[in-house]
Amino acid sequence: MANDDTLRPDSQRRRLVIATSAAGGIAAAGTAVPFVASMMPSERAKAVGAPMTVDISKLPPGEMMTAPWRGQPVWILHRTPGMLAGLNKIEGDLLDPASERLQQPEYCRNGYRSRKPEYLVAVGICTHLGCVPTFRPDIAPSDLGPKWEGGYFCPCHGSTFDLAGRVYKGKPAPLNLVIPPYYFSGAGTVTVGLDEEKA
Ligand code: FES
Repeated sequence: MANDDTLRPDSQRRRLVIATSAAGGIAAAGTAVPFVASMMPSERAKAVGAPMTVDISKLPPGEMMTAPWRGQPVWILHRTPGMLAGLNKIEGDLLDPASERLQQPEYCRNGYRSRKPEYLVAVGICTHLGCVPTFRPDIAPSDLGPKWEGGYFCPCHGSTFDLAGRVYKGKPAPLNLVIPPYYFSGAGTVTVGLDEEKA
């Protein structure tokens, strides 16, 4: 379980072709093993691509934490009832409010883009050119306008996303943020990288 300092709420951190002739088959077989071995993923590579389980039991409502998975930041946001209500108010301003483009597993193709309304799990990489957007949960700040209900702002070229990772219209980013495969693996844990527990 990942539980180092990077997993604290952000606010607290301020925050393989083998071809052989009949004559050469034995020799080829003798050299094939190291060749095949060299094609196997290293332990480190396997670890990097492995699922990740995160303890979210202490993540307060309104707070977000970031966990590294496959070299990317994965955000886990504990949304409040107010945050959830705000999602409905801005759907007319969004490019793909119903998540029709395949940026999420089928089980997250809903208004919250999540398995449980109160938790957003998303890859924190802007779908324009890959910057990391900033968490902006504040309501109607002067720089984002009076209709802002909280979301994410990309500082590179100004794309904005709501608190479900849905991109606003008229912005450089063409797609909603990616929702990775995940499931709730315990009362206070979420596992990222798998759709369900392996038997
Ligand atoms: S990388 Fe985010 S708007 Fe360009």
